[in-house]
Amino acid sequence: MYETNAPPGRVAADVPVDERFMTLALEHAVTGLGRTAPNPPVGCVIVQNHQQHGGEVVGRGFHPKAGGPHAEVFALREAGEQARGATAYVTLEPCSHHGRTPPCADTLIAAGIARVVVAALDPNPQVAGEGVQRLRDAGIVVEVGVLEAHAVRQQAGFRSVITRGRPWVVAKYAMTLDGKVAAVREGNGTVSGEVARERTMQWRNELDAIAVGSGTLSLDDPALTVRGVPGGRDPRPVVFDRRAASDPHARAWREGAVLVTAPEARADAHEAAGITVLRADTLPDALRGLGKLGLSSVLLEGGPTLLSAFFAQGLVDEVRVFLAPKLLGAGLSPLTGPTRSMHEAQTLRDVTVELLGPDMLVTGLLSDIPRL
Ligand SMILES: NC(=O)c1ccc[n+]([C@@H]2O[C@H](COP(=O)([O-])OP(=O)(O)OC[C@H]3O[C@@H](n4cnc5c(N)ncnc54)[C@H](OP(=O)(O)O)[C@@H]3O)[C@@H](O)[C@H]2O)c1
Repeated sequence: MYETNAPPGRVAADVPVDERFMTLALEHAVTGLGRTAPNPPVGCVIVQNHQQHGGEVVGRGFHPKAGGPHAEVFALREAGEQARGATAYVTLEPCSHHGRTPPCADTLIAAGIARVVVAALDPNPQVAGEGVQRLRDAGIVVEVGVLEAHAVRQQAGFRSVITRGRPWVVAKYAMTLDGKVAAVREGNGTVSGEVARERTMQWRNELDAIAVGSGTLSLDDPALTVRGVPGGRDPRPVVFDRRAASDPHARAWREGAVLVTAPEARADAHEAAGITVLRADTLPDALRGLGKLGLSSVLLEGGPTLLSAFFAQGLVDEVRVFLAPKLLGAGLSPLTGPTRSMHEAQTLRDVTVELLGPDMLVTGLLSDIPRL
């Protein structure tokens, strides 16, 4: 499971201790979610005497935004001289190339760090194991793979753009026990309850963009903002509207909004309103365009027509569905499409089930998160 260059005779990864400090580093990384694209969210903690008395955290940091210092730099700044001989826990392999900031591998070496524990290697071809190699060449003990699955999941958006050229797509919807997302195609009350709404707000705060189709925009006029999350920030709204027929003064069209429309559509009114217009023939092209705009993750909030198109083309990577204990009878199904046999059903992996107030939340993956 772990890869190490620890000298023979030495216990390589001190698993419970390493996992405890890596958990802390992953918690720091969360603070950057939704703020770092196209860079990954990364956390780092620096620990003195990790094998004695439970260790002492002397530095901590996270990457706040692209162009800003990396997590290691903040953690080393706080640690100062105490970094010498310490262990650094980093959720992503330290970089080895000069980007907008100097290579973190060199900064860790210069600070006198003795051991580095890395959760996951960096899939960026400019790094891809070179950061670890550079540390090892400098005589630093490096362990790789501590809480890797957790870290890779946290970095799904970054990994998706680097390896596939498009954002990680999370489809979210709420439906009744009889599988309906709305009573009729018109402005609707919400399906799920308050706790589910709070969770949705956290996701909006953590993903780069929030997407809906023109149907939802015109029927619900949603604000697509984050409410009730301390320190929260709004994701960039993205509206799929091939004819550019939606009202350019709808609430979703705030700063940073993106209209995804057909190449031939007249979008003068939207452009005049300062909306970024992305022209694409197909959904895969649209996603690549969103990746180029610096968006690494998209929360696809529907409605059923757009959701169905994404699912039918295999463009949904992760699913988060609320199941409300209500029965509607007639209403809109979340997904439509050609009849499939049960053998052809798309089956989720890494499934979680949680009760949120009266609603059940089911999540799972449809795609593998790109690794190295
Ligand atoms: N319960 C929930 O979780 C939930 C969430 C969202 C919405 N809803 C409900 O859903 C209802 C709206 O349903 P809806 O299906 O009309 O909304 P929608 O899926 O948001 O919008 C549909 C429109 O998206 C446009 N579109 C742009 N690109 C597309 C593409 N590649 N493929 C397919 N469509 C594309 C199409 O219009 P053009 O052809 O003009 O581009 C289409 O008519 C509302 O009642 C709303 O309350 C429920």
